[in-house]
Amino acid sequence: MEQICEPQATFTHMENGSAEDWKCIADAFGPFARELPQRIMAHLQLLEGDCGGFPVDRLTHCLQTATLAYRDGKNEEYVVCALLHDIGDTLGSYNHADVAAVLLEPFVSEANHWMIKHHAIFQGYYFFQYLGMDRNLRDQYRDHEHFARTLEFIEKYDAPAFDAEGETLPLSFFAPMIERVFAKPKKSLYQKALDQDGEAAA
Ligand SMILES: [Fe+2]
Ligand SMILES: [Fe+2]
Repeated sequence: MEQICEPQATFTHMENGSAEDWKCIADAFGPFARELPQRIMAHLQLLEGDCGGFPVDRLTHCLQTATLAYRDGKNEEYVVCALLHDIGDTLGSYNHADVAAVLLEPFVSEANHWMIKHHAIFQGYYFFQYLGMDRNLRDQYRDHEHFARTLEFIEKYDAPAFDAEGETLPLSFFAPMIERVFAKPKKSLYQKALDQDGEAAA
């Protein structure tokens, strides 16, 4: 694939990178990072048409989970978490909840991150027994501060979102929410550099 990315750093080993090299990279980062919401939406679209044996396809399930949370009055950050909770189904075949949690972690509260990271274990209550597993695996978190929050997510929004007749708002409805939630990280390894960049731009 032909790459068009001028100007570029010139090092062949990072050890030899200069301030000028890293200015090239830092300058390219801003526009790339601002397109993150578009990449998130493109990745959600990959879930379309793949049912995996479920009654609705994976995109419909995600949209319906978000719709239920939205209609129930949950705030924007929560709704976006609901929308993305199964975005990892494509690449995280064995750890899909972790994939969603990692993508959301810089942008959401610790409570919402924990809820998404653990939703698969909580949801297992409905079907782990059919796979020869312990359906009560989630009980190890009974005393955790986010147990009730995660249980509510599963019971009210995730588990009921397999209804082909149920209300399913389109991805375009949620696009502005994705744009706002993914606009700026609350926490990141690069937070100091990002803050300085913001001050310089102001
Ligand atoms: Fe899931
Ligand atoms: Fe789900």
